[in-house]
Amino acid sequence: MTARPRVVVVGALPPVGIGLLRRRFVVEAGGSRPERSWLREHVPGAVAIVADPSIRIDADLLEAAGDSLKVVANFAVGHDNIDLNAARERGVRATNTPDVLTNATAELAVALMLAAARRIAEADGLTRSGRWQPEEQILGRELTGSTVGLVGFGRIARRVAKLLRGFEVRLLFTSRSDAPAQRGAERRELHDLLAAADFVSLHVPLTTETRQLIDATRLAQMKRGAILVNTSRGAVIDTTALIEALRSAQLGAAGLDVYEDEPHVPQELRELPNTVLLPHLGSATGATRDAMARLCAENVSAVIEGREPPTPVA
Ligand code: DGY
Repeated sequence: MTARPRVVVVGALPPVGIGLLRRRFVVEAGGSRPERSWLREHVPGAVAIVADPSIRIDADLLEAAGDSLKVVANFAVGHDNIDLNAARERGVRATNTPDVLTNATAELAVALMLAAARRIAEADGLTRSGRWQPEEQILGRELTGSTVGLVGFGRIARRVAKLLRGFEVRLLFTSRSDAPAQRGAERRELHDLLAAADFVSLHVPLTTETRQLIDATRLAQMKRGAILVNTSRGAVIDTTALIEALRSAQLGAAGLDVYEDEPHVPQELRELPNTVLLPHLGSATGATRDAMARLCAENVSAVIEGREPPTPVA
């Protein structure tokens, strides 16, 4: 009997994904934050690596895996953790999990807009502290009727646009592609969008063009007191410039789900009252994470069985 192929799973893949993979493969799980040395030791001979965005799959690791490796299946839509060129050079396929997480992530972006605007985290802290006095006022702002700028107009941004319809917002967006506009959404250059929007929500993948896209200059172009929401990747914002803009009240508030060096969140950000800080929850609903896990397992099976994977990126 031939030995079943081996799959290395690192990152937080839910049990349903592990179960599906175990039907066809020997699964070697490295936990959610494996040491680099564990990875280097276990990837040689594996046919697939299943990883989440916190795991760097670079040329060096792909080389360590050797010729047996056929696919890197990311448990995420973002795939900035994978060196796609190195994968292509080695003939290794790469896949991600788009679509199934669109709604969950879009809902979280809207939740952050509302939470930052109504100072939900700050107000919750006050209530819990027992220091709340009835005369204490936590005054916020309304999303309804405001101008919202979506930076990037892919699947998640489009879903945000749809969810916002009930809030009767004026909707602006930037897009590098010729994405057709959605009902009522107006396309703008980035600086125009930043100057006009009360809320700016980031929906771009992390690439060399978008790294530090929102820097001190861009922050200064924003409407004074505007709210910035990020559910894309932390490195799209220059964190030092962001902290300064929040301190000086150039920005009214920020709702962040992602950070430059996760899981590290700078102390300065944590100390600011005008931030709502989440631990990268974009796709984190039970149903969505299970759907991502199934898609991930199907991507691995397809490549190993010689079929086209459902959601390839390389
Ligand atoms: C994604 O899918 O890229 C998310 O950021 C991971 O949670």
